[in-house]
Amino acid sequence: MTTDTRSVNQTITSDPSSSCDVELAAGPWEFDLVAGYGPGASEDDVIPDPVVRPGQLPAAYQRMDEEDLHARIRAAKESLGDRLVILGHFYQRDEVVRHADFVGDSFQLANAALTRPDAEHIVFCGVHFMAETADILARPDQHVILPNLAAGCSMADMADEDSVESAWEQLTEIYGTEPDASGRQPVIPVTYMNSSAALKAFCGRHGGIVCTSSNASTVLEWAFERGQRVLFFPDQHLGRNTAKAMGIELDAMPMVNPRKPLLGQTEQVLRDAEVLLWPGFCSVHKRFTVAQIEAARAQHPGVKVVVHPECPMPVVDAADAAGSTDFIRKFVAASEPGDVIAIGTEINMVNRLAAEYPDRTIFCLDPVVCPCSTMYRIHPGYLAWVLDGIVEGEVRNEIVVDAEVATHAKVALERMLAALPK
Ligand code: 13P
Ligand code: SF4
Repeated sequence: MTTDTRSVNQTITSDPSSSCDVELAAGPWEFDLVAGYGPGASEDDVIPDPVVRPGQLPAAYQRMDEEDLHARIRAAKESLGDRLVILGHFYQRDEVVRHADFVGDSFQLANAALTRPDAEHIVFCGVHFMAETADILARPDQHVILPNLAAGCSMADMADEDSVESAWEQLTEIYGTEPDASGRQPVIPVTYMNSSAALKAFCGRHGGIVCTSSNASTVLEWAFERGQRVLFFPDQHLGRNTAKAMGIELDAMPMVNPRKPLLGQTEQVLRDAEVLLWPGFCSVHKRFTVAQIEAARAQHPGVKVVVHPECPMPVVDAADAAGSTDFIRKFVAASEPGDVIAIGTEINMVNRLAAEYPDRTIFCLDPVVCPCSTMYRIHPGYLAWVLDGIVEGEVRNEIVVDAEVATHAKVALERMLAALPK
């Protein structure tokens, strides 16, 4: 195994020009002391009480030996039994995934939260928008806990409610509010799951829907049955890749700039649009390039390339397949011993697949391996601390979505859950 062939178990390397940093894996609390994401940082966040700012993880947990942390987590799980469910996203580090009751993509985890209405506590090892979604879908007496409140998502922060409202106003001025002869509305808002609860509520209020990367094409079909156009936010790449796969021309997918008059377009372009794209992106997935795919193909003739649809369109076009994190998992599971597979997604997941299938060569397309720095904020130290809190009768880092926001967001989320992945 060499780093040249970028074979299994790549280590995370440091690149000062990116958000990748080896130090982050070891002690996220050092990073969490720097002002940034935290309690109240997401729109319409209800600040937890008691509030512990990220970085204030008690020193005992920061210093604890890793095996002691695992023992604490296991003991808390045992004592809480069915009162607790731990959900883990595929991008979580192995030290956290090993304690999760469900591991999945964001669509599966939204469903998993619903399958345990008996659990008093849902500990969400993922990022903030996932925990918000779980809180919206959970029963009112269930507590949803995000072990580290600094686990946000930079893409979710790229669309805020004011900008979306202002874009919507401009679109309404141009299109009006009347449906066409077939009863289709002028425009349907679709938000990617990776967005604040406030934007999910916006979609609920305006006849829209939420999508994930696994059901985006089902959701766009749903939207086009009800509307002439779609306003898709925040991820331009998922929007473009999904619409293109449905046969929509690139000319009919203009990007909007909410800060400019006419959203930076001409009135004609907006009238002819089928999908209006928001300029958001994922900083992890935008690192993947066509050159990396070409290099992988040159080095490993016959390599199969699979990428996440948050990657830019030329990368998705150059790959053999694209799909959600669960799609990627299934793609690898369906491969044969001896196959070589290059993956364009977050490194924790790639390394886990490589370890699970040692009879295949599985590697990440990006030679400067970048973890999702916000997913990485969930360290076993934080997990042990919130679980100990539950055992002691204290709910730490609870995510509570404002009731009015939750009511509208739930409408859009229930539509999403009914739009099954293909
Ligand atoms: P999935 O819906 O594929 O799990 O993706 C979530 C995510 O945040 C990818 O960046
Ligand atoms: Fe957000 Fe990208 Fe991390 Fe997914 S991988 S949670 S989109 S920053």
